[in-house]
Amino acid sequence: MQISKQQAWQVLNQYVTSDVLLRHCLAVEIAMRAYAAKFNQDPEYWSTVGLLHDVDFEKYPEEHPAHARKILMAHGYDDEFITNVESHARDWPKERTILQKTLLAVDELTGFIIACALVRPDKSLENLEVKSVMKKMKDKAFARAVNRETIINSALDMGIDLKEHIGFVTQALSLAVKQPEYQEIPLIG
Ligand SMILES: [Fe+2]
Repeated sequence: MQISKQQAWQVLNQYVTSDVLLRHCLAVEIAMRAYAAKFNQDPEYWSTVGLLHDVDFEKYPEEHPAHARKILMAHGYDDEFITNVESHARDWPKERTILQKTLLAVDELTGFIIACALVRPDKSLENLEVKSVMKKMKDKAFARAVNRETIINSALDMGIDLKEHIGFVTQALSLAVKQPEYQEIPLIG
């Protein structure tokens, strides 16, 4: 099938009603798109995997992502696409591809970066510095639901320096928030 963000967005909206989760999916979509371009991969494909990675989370929070396969199959996504989505299960038993490693590495980090921006006086991603995100990583009371180990280990697994990774994802999110297509559900809201 032809992968398109527009179609994926329609599918996602059939299974996710929470703005918080939609915002998270969009943030992961943005980061995946940016990394695909950096790695000379297909941005449309990578970003669509990102957009749909939590498609079953709202309906099946306990079993997620075990229900992604049947949902995505019903909408015509192929085995490879669905496997990419499933691969962000924290206990995924196989070696991840670069797309899959990137998905895991941006999943927790995007939310953490947005949380860091939200506590700034200007609530802006634009002036958010890597060192301030690194400092917040060490502050266990801050955004405590975000697993720091996953952020650190997944960046290691990608073979990217953590600071570089944080800077890259912050910049990708910061550029995207200005685009008209991300105004419907603002990332910083
Ligand atoms: Fe996620």
